Amino acid sequence: MLEDLEVLKNDFPIFKQKMHGAPLVYLDSAATAQKPGVVIETINDFYKNHYGTVHRSVYELSTHATTQYQNVRELVASFINAAKSEEIIFTKGTTESINLVARSFGQAFIQPGDEILITAMEHHSNIVPWQMMCEERKGILRAVPIHRDGTLDMDAYATLLKNHPKLVAITHISNALGTINPIKDIIAMAHQAGAKVLIDGAQSIAHLPIDVSDLDADFFVFSGHKLYGPTGIGILYGKEALLSAMPPFLGGGDMIKHVTLEKTTYAELPLKFEAGTPQIAEVLGLGAAIKYVNEIGLTFIHSHEKELFTHCEEALKQIKGLKIIGTAPDKGALISFIIDNIHPLDIGTMLDLKGIAVRTGHHCAQPVMQYFGIPGTVRASFALYNTKDDIDYFVESLKHVIKLF
Ligand SMILES: Cc1ncc(COP(=O)(O)O)c(C=O)c1O
Repeated sequence: MLEDLEVLKNDFPIFKQKMHGAPLVYLDSAATAQKPGVVIETINDFYKNHYGTVHRSVYELSTHATTQYQNVRELVASFINAAKSEEIIFTKGTTESINLVARSFGQAFIQPGDEILITAMEHHSNIVPWQMMCEERKGILRAVPIHRDGTLDMDAYATLLKNHPKLVAITHISNALGTINPIKDIIAMAHQAGAKVLIDGAQSIAHLPIDVSDLDADFFVFSGHKLYGPTGIGILYGKEALLSAMPPFLGGGDMIKHVTLEKTTYAELPLKFEAGTPQIAEVLGLGAAIKYVNEIGLTFIHSHEKELFTHCEEALKQIKGLKIIGTAPDKGALISFIIDNIHPLDIGTMLDLKGIAVRTGHHCAQPVMQYFGIPGTVRASFALYNTKDDIDYFVESLKHVIKLF
């Protein structure tokens, strides 16, 4: 199976170029994924041939853009199996989606002394907005601890739920450790304790089939750019009843029903949460990305990436002085590691000279690094366009870099 993947790589124009004279081996898809030609062409075609605003006008360009824009909302709803397209809100990305919920859910439901539960493995995007909200609403933020292997301490979670938090916000897959959290159980336990749940799907959306209805998630958020789509577009899925009960996040055009100088009434979902001229080209680009992913199939993508992961992990384990950070039994398409006496930044810089892109540093998860007592890691992350040859070249290059130190 892995050998056929060179064909998929050809769908991505960036791989036609060399990096420092070597073929580009891109192992930073957990930060952002490369774009297939169909996504780039969709955006180009819109600006070249069809550009117009949405929702506002009766002329052909605008009505066409409005239909295309709305079609993508339907596509996203079916991609994650939401009950209705009104439950899909377009945002700028995961970060904005979480900020929207923190602010708006906070205003609607959080009273002084109420608790919010996050975990010790969250990305800063799923920490800082809750800290800001708790400061504003006088809420209490608590974090579920993790074990040394990078799994969540489920006993501690059960204990913390006894305080009846109002909301649990947790990542599906840790971007720093790779841990896949058992979110179905986590959601069921939270619901039993009376809490709503937000799932940060930034690291899972491009790697696992997602079914928000089966999960019974109250909120599910992700970014288009990690799903082979453009930057500047993200999704907030929220259950209709909850979103309806929450106040708007931003005020302006498009999110209103009626405005007088004294008072405004708000539009129904989803427009209530989409103030201003939206990211139309980005929405259409996201639509093209989802169609592309659907054609390949997330089940195939997942099993392909699992093979890459196992191949890479086995090879890395043979390297003396290399320690994998995050050894949970169930992991996503990324491996974080450190090497004795070599700073991650130096490894990243040397690998770049060989055409290999890996992420180095704290990965916007400083509390994870604090827990392991390290400044950062090297992280190799995989996507559908990576091949076994990519991994072999990466491992050989890494061994070469280690020898130089
Ligand atoms: C787990 C997780 N949550 C949130 C984010 C933030 O995503 P964005 O920067 O696209 O808003 C990221 C990005 O790396 C992530 O990995």
